[in-house]
This record gives sequence, C-alpha cells and structure tokens, in this order.
Amino acid sequence: MTENEGSGGRQTEDGPQVRIFDTTLRDGEQSPGISLNTQEKVEIATQLARLGVDVIEAGFPITSPGDFEAVQAIARGVEGPTVCGLARTHKADIDAAWGAVKEAARPRIHTFISTSDIHIEHQLQATREDVKGQARAAVALARSLCEDVEFSPMDATRADVEFTAEVCAIAVEEGATVVNIPDTVGYTTPEEYGAFITKLYELIPGLAEVTVSVHCHDDLGLAVANSYAGLLAGARQVECAVNGIGERAGNCSLEEIVMLLRTRRDVHGLDTMLDTKELARTSRLVSRLTGYQVPPNKAVVGRNAFAHESGIHQDGVLKERSTYEIMDATEVGHESNTIFLGKHSGRHALQDALEQLGFRVEGEALNQAFKRFKELADKKKQVSALDLEAIVSDEMREQTERYVLESFDIEAGSDKPPLARVAVKLPSGVTTSAEATGDGPVDAIFIAIKDAVGVEAELRRYGVEAVTEGTDALGEVTVVLRANGVLATGQGVATDILEASARAYVRALSNALEGAAVREAEEATAEAAGERSPGP
Ligand code: KIV
Ligand code: ZN
Repeated sequence: MTENEGSGGRQTEDGPQVRIFDTTLRDGEQSPGISLNTQEKVEIATQLARLGVDVIEAGFPITSPGDFEAVQAIARGVEGPTVCGLARTHKADIDAAWGAVKEAARPRIHTFISTSDIHIEHQLQATREDVKGQARAAVALARSLCEDVEFSPMDATRADVEFTAEVCAIAVEEGATVVNIPDTVGYTTPEEYGAFITKLYELIPGLAEVTVSVHCHDDLGLAVANSYAGLLAGARQVECAVNGIGERAGNCSLEEIVMLLRTRRDVHGLDTMLDTKELARTSRLVSRLTGYQVPPNKAVVGRNAFAHESGIHQDGVLKERSTYEIMDATEVGHESNTIFLGKHSGRHALQDALEQLGFRVEGEALNQAFKRFKELADKKKQVSALDLEAIVSDEMREQTERYVLESFDIEAGSDKPPLARVAVKLPSGVTTSAEATGDGPVDAIFIAIKDAVGVEAELRRYGVEAVTEGTDALGEVTVVLRANGVLATGQGVATDILEASARAYVRALSNALEGAAVREAEEATAEAAGERSPGP
C-alpha cells in the first residue's frame, strides 16, 4: 500500500484494488469519425458490464438528445457498474446528467472545470475566483441530487498545483466522492504526474478520504505510464478506454493498464476486479462498432500480441510458454476462436454457440443469424466463434440502420469497366435503385449507392481485414467517409469483400445521416446556452 492511500482505496485479501472507470462511450466516442447510436452504445455497455468495469461513463447528456437518451438507456438497462454522466459546472448540464443517470442502481455525476490559467483565460474567459465559485456551486448542486459525485480540474497538469489543490479542496468540502486529475492534453510525464498527485495529497487534508482518480491522454504515448505513476502515488481509480480510443491520440488503453496491473502485481500489489478473459472480445466489439481498427502489434489485444515469428522464439514457446510470453493468451480471451460449427449444425447448436459467446438471440434475429450462418457454412468448412461473432454483430446492426442495402450485383470483365447495380431502402421505407460504372468494382458500387441514396460523399478511408485465417475467411470492410458535413464510419462483413464493401458503405452513409442529426441538435443546444458546443 502507498503512504497516500486512504479510505478511497479498496482492500481485498489480495491487496488494494483499483477501480476501472471506462470512458469509451464518452471520451472514446469523441474520436473523429465515431458516431455510435443508442443501441450500439448499450451493446458496448453490456459488454463492459460483462468485463466487470466498476464505472461506465456513458456520455455527456447535455450535448444532444441522442446522448441523453443513450446514457438513460444504459442507466436503465445495464446492471452492475456505476453509470456516470458528464457535466460542465453549469446547472443545466448537471440537471441533464442527473436526469439521464438517476435510474441507474448506482448513478454518478461527473462535473469538471479547468484550473489551468491557459484555459481560464482563453477558453473560459473567467478568473480563478470564478472557477472556485463555479466548482463549489456545481459540486454542491450535484451532491444535492446524487450521492456519488466526481470532480475534475480540467488541464490540471498544466495548472498551478496550489490553485488546483484549492479547487479540489472545495470539491471535497462540498462532498465530492472522487477527485479526478486529468492530463487533458497528454503533456505530463510519469515522474511529474506522480509528484503532482503526491503534492495534492499533501495540500488537501480531506483527499485521503475520497477516491483519487487518474485520467491521462496519449499525445506523447505516455497515457498508460502516467496513469500507472498516478496509481503508484495513491490514486485508486483509473479512467481509460477500450483500445485506447479518445480525443486526438486517445486515452489510457483499458486493456494495457489492466494487464499491467494483473501481470506485475508482484511489484505494486495492485489489481482490478476485471474478468480479463473478456478483454479481447471487448476490444473486437469496440473496434467493429467504431471502425477504429486495432493495429496487429497492439499490446494485449493486437492480433499478433501472442504470435511468435522467429524460429528461436517458436522453439522456446513450444518447450515452455514462459520463455517468451509474460501473459497467457487465454487470460485475455485471445483463444475465443475455438467453438466450431460445421455445415450440418442446426439452429439449436447455433443458439448454444451464440449463448456461449454472450449473445442471446431469439425469434426473427435467430432466423436471420441462422440464414447467414448457413450461407457461411456452405462456403467454409468450419465456422469459428470469431466468424459467428462477426456475422451476428453485423446482423444486429442491420436492424437499426437508416439505409439498408437490399441487393447488389456487379458485372466485371477485363474488356469493359465494371458495372454495379444496387437497391437501397431509404429511411422512408421506399427502395431506390441505381447503376454506375467505376474505376474498379468497389468504386462502381460506391458510386451506385451514392446515386441511389442521393447523397454526396467523399471516401476518406477504405480497409479490408480477414476475420480469421484462410482464403475462405470472412472479410471485414471498414469505410470512413465525409457526408452531410460529418465524418462517419461503417463496417460490413461477408465472405465476398464486394458485398462487405457495399454493406460498409451503406452503413457509413447511415451513420453520417445520424451524425448530422446529432450535430444539429448539439448546435441548437449550444446556441440556446449562448455558447459553442461543449467538449472537454
Ligand atoms: O481530458 C479531460 O480533461 C476530460 C475531462 C472531462 C475529465 O476528459
Ligand atoms: Zn479526456
């Protein structure tokens, strides 16, 4: 135990526990091009609950009716973790955050205001005295509504530590239960951050009685190292996001900090309550829904994180795994590619396999999943858990899209440009069709879809990944495009990558339409509040 640790830290027989505060759905969702709808957010939150995170920061309810609705749906429907909503220090923000989280079994309001002079002067155009007053009023108001209140002095690591301590002391005095120290712009270093937190413990007598939290951005690639330094200095909550997504270079990566704590308990005695076997799956789900692909060499969850290429390493691992592995792949759920179904497997076998994977699929959704499974089993000898997960997630997504690809067909030959024909169902329920030629088959499909939908779009990124190994593998296509003034992503899964491309493109257009609606609502809210759209 560190000397700073007070009653804010949890103890079990194995030592002090660190709380995992997941901000994938709030800070993570602020990454460019990500726009998740309510159903997708609930799907991620449900998986986070299965993983065992302590707190889900589900969104920033004041920013739009869509964000409010998603936070409320998670508060109502996702059991286990504390559900938290973000709020500036404004009364309207705090009321909105409370309105969205109050039905959770364990609600939390997280309110923040900057303590750095750069932010106070240029962004808030206020004074230090104003900041103290606003922090006091906000925490007091939040505490009058909710027993669990987190306070963050934004941009703390570029702020005067004495002033930050004064503001945090006010928050503690007003009843904040958690004090979070953000490295908002990813500027600090491990030594500096650890020392900053130690200094806060010295300056704020009541700090040892509440949970101190760390929130680090990755602009210099130090988010995990800085978070770890903060924990060593006594913090007992770490704010992180799955796959490290978040503003700019992202947040502290959840899977990395969790496995750092688990693997090196011997040096620090800290651990979390997470079921780490769910890490790989959580990472795949978030990657699939956000369109942010996980690099193959990403620590813990990258496809190659447990692959050994050199003969010497392979030889060593075959003889004794620990020669070149510090974690067991099964410990983080890397081997979930093991449930195999064959072409003769029936509906029950599929339903059982899906249940083992955590999907409860019944009725029409099961019929659809079975149809896709049979199509796949006709093409592939064996259908693995990763295949099932990919097609079921793909099918579930289809139910909520604004545009739906009804059919597509492509004619291609070496002597003429490829010709694509598509039919797309519009939000009105009407199906429209179009045909187009292009430089290649994918280009032709995308032009035909744009024509059918009647939307201008500019392709920004196109990527294909195989879900499993082998030439008969499912292909997963990610499309990032700009349409309706917003950047949006879409994914599609099929054994035929042209079909996967068409699905991905239609979904990206759907998400752009949704994103544009959300942006309009945000602008209306900001205008009503007399300022530009909020965003930490
Ligand atoms: O980075 C930041 O400062 C934030 C705060 C809202 C905690 O995300
Ligand atoms: Zn942040």
